[in-house]
Amino acid sequence: MQKIKKAVIPAAGLGTRMLPISRTVPKEMLPIVDRPAISYLVEEAVAAGAEDILIITGRGKDAIENYFDYSIEYEQKLTASGKLDQIAEMRRICSLANVYFLRQKETKGLGHAVLTAKSFIADDPFYILYGDDLIVSETPVCSQLADAYEKYGKPCCGVKPVPWELVYKYCSLKAESNGDNTYSVTDMIEKPKPDQVYTNLSILGRVLLTPDIFDILEQTPPGAGGEIQLTDAMKVVAQTTGMTAVDFEGTRYDLGSKLGFLTANVQEAVKHPEVGEEFRKFLIEFVKTL
Ligand code: UTP
Repeated sequence: MQKIKKAVIPAAGLGTRMLPISRTVPKEMLPIVDRPAISYLVEEAVAAGAEDILIITGRGKDAIENYFDYSIEYEQKLTASGKLDQIAEMRRICSLANVYFLRQKETKGLGHAVLTAKSFIADDPFYILYGDDLIVSETPVCSQLADAYEKYGKPCCGVKPVPWELVYKYCSLKAESNGDNTYSVTDMIEKPKPDQVYTNLSILGRVLLTPDIFDILEQTPPGAGGEIQLTDAMKVVAQTTGMTAVDFEGTRYDLGSKLGFLTANVQEAVKHPEVGEEFRKFLIEFVKTL
């Protein structure tokens, strides 16, 4: 099975759930303690073997591009104060992979954003990491998908059971267990009405697709919310070749929502090597006041 060497990170969405900050700071650049979300995603893709990573951006998202560039002024200042480790770490982030940028000129949905990656992907299988979904795991979720791709030979999606009463906000998969942590998927629906729900398994943040998705996306009309939905195109894949859903190991944070952003910061802050211990002490005292 072909190794996965390319990844696409759609990060062009307007982030209306994170207004007003998202008007001037891309939600993908909001910090988890001291690193933007996009930094974690690139690290995950690289850890899973990606060498070429395309980030789909849009107007007002220049900060994402700047993050992966050298910072000569900072380096001069840090050199003068002998903080060479910090320079090395910043250069490491810039050299993780070949990171490319492309603008989605109109925010017509996740499926439309993925379609802009068509010529970059050419004939290769590839990962998609949703730009506002951070997943903290022992094994990168993309690697977990690559293992399932190797085993079952079909495009894969990362899934989790979501509370039944919230399935309408996500998508619902028609899926049967393979007897491990994976499922065989034959159909799916985005934002289902109550009588359209198959299961409470929903796709969260990571997929591994083959390039035939592009022909399907080109034929996909706008769906839920008037946007071109990636789920509508993956539905065709599920119905024809089938897909494998992987109930992944890891904690997922929706950084496109205020609550997800806050939760991620608290949970990651207590583990942080520099401030974790002090923050933990603060939290213990703070909780007593609630
Ligand atoms: P979301 O639906 O969570 O992003 O898309 P959004 O549209 O920015 O969110 P709200 O509802 O307005 O708050 C999942 C991912 O797809 C990207 C987003 O940046 C996010 O990372 N996306 C979405 C695009 O790249 N282009 C789009 O047209 C829509």
